[in-house]
Amino acid sequence: MSKLAINGGTPVRTRPFPPYRTFDENEERAVVEVIREGVISDYIGAPGAYFMGGRRVQQLEDMWRAHTGAKHAVVMNSATSVIIAAMAAFGLGPGDEVIVTPYSHVISATAPLFYDAIPVFADSEPDCLCMSVDSIREKITERTRAIIVVDLFGQSADMDGIMDLARKHNLLVLSDSAHITKATYKGRMAGTLAHIGSYSFNGHKTIQCGEGGMAVTDDDELAMRLRLVRNHAENCVAGYEVENIINMVGFNFRMTELEAAVCIEQTKKIDRLVDARRELCAHLARRLQGVAGLTAPILRKGCTHDFLLFPVLYDASVVGISRDEFLRRLDAEGIKTRKVGEEHVPPVTGFVTPIHLQPVFTRRTFRPKGYPWDSSHYGHEVPYGQGACPVVEGLFREKLFTVNAIYPPLTTADMDDIADAMLKIVELSA
Ligand SMILES: Cc1ncc(COP(=O)(O)O)c(C=O)c1O
Repeated sequence: MSKLAINGGTPVRTRPFPPYRTFDENEERAVVEVIREGVISDYIGAPGAYFMGGRRVQQLEDMWRAHTGAKHAVVMNSATSVIIAAMAAFGLGPGDEVIVTPYSHVISATAPLFYDAIPVFADSEPDCLCMSVDSIREKITERTRAIIVVDLFGQSADMDGIMDLARKHNLLVLSDSAHITKATYKGRMAGTLAHIGSYSFNGHKTIQCGEGGMAVTDDDELAMRLRLVRNHAENCVAGYEVENIINMVGFNFRMTELEAAVCIEQTKKIDRLVDARRELCAHLARRLQGVAGLTAPILRKGCTHDFLLFPVLYDASVVGISRDEFLRRLDAEGIKTRKVGEEHVPPVTGFVTPIHLQPVFTRRTFRPKGYPWDSSHYGHEVPYGQGACPVVEGLFREKLFTVNAIYPPLTTADMDDIADAMLKIVELSA
């Protein structure tokens, strides 16, 4: 029987995984055209012809309106900006609570703080890994105004359940769909079922332009408020005769023509890039099927998955070693769990530290003097820290890792290396 590489055996793989690179002569030509034209950003922070941005910014928005089926698309310089702008557009303020997930990028949970609202954490589903509708329901109080829901790893959250709660309790919903490129929920593009949806084009995403984010909404007023916050709202509300100007103090969240030019070319590649991931992930899932202790991504009924990451549920009691020991052994087999080559992210890793365990929440350090928790507008106890979201804490500590090396130009042979290494460890660790 072969020997584990960690014990001196031959590793399954010795080559690093090639990085994810998707630019070609099309992005190159598009960028050169912008430079030759000589106008890198075509915005002015005042009402008028240039308030909505340059030609390419507006073309990219048209493409995403068509791609998502949403009535409005508003592009910004990051999804972080979109999510903050959405909190402004929702009209959040002191004393409001927003239900968020701890298992995401930090901005998915910190955004309400920028408008003095209080993030309240809901736990996740143990199978599909998005926010649990039952947990959200438990967290709703008379102070709840909104929910930020995340389509984690590339699959939609349970939007029927979440939107039912939202209608019943009169809540606004932001869908943080940064991991979505074209995945659907019951035939509709994920991200379009909430009041506002947000997508990311940062360098780690399936399509990217370095930094960038897209808001979508069917609501005319929310769309205008998003556009205002993107571009110095306070200077522009009079020019656009906007009635509700609460929170309409803006930023410079504008995307340049350079990023828009790149993102237009990337948008044309969505089908090819996502379908390649789906094929690789289907192969990997088939190889892991029936392996005791490892569960490949569980697909929600009626949904498609974009596989920004490939989450694997891990059961230490079945495999016989801890998740961290499994990852150490995987690393020794050449499926690296740290960044060694040019990869954007390590081929395999655990996922982020749950946000409710971060000091901004455990020590309430967003602003001096415990603000906004200790303000006269609030004064309620919110559970942060260990024990507040047991499912997420278990996933973080021991029950989940993600395979990140699931992109073109990798092939099914690369997926076989990953699966072979995992199977070898499971077999020799029992
Ligand atoms: C779920 C989620 N939300 C929001 C963001 C923020 O995106 P951006 O880097 O475009 O600001 C990210 C970034 O990785 C993310 O993964």
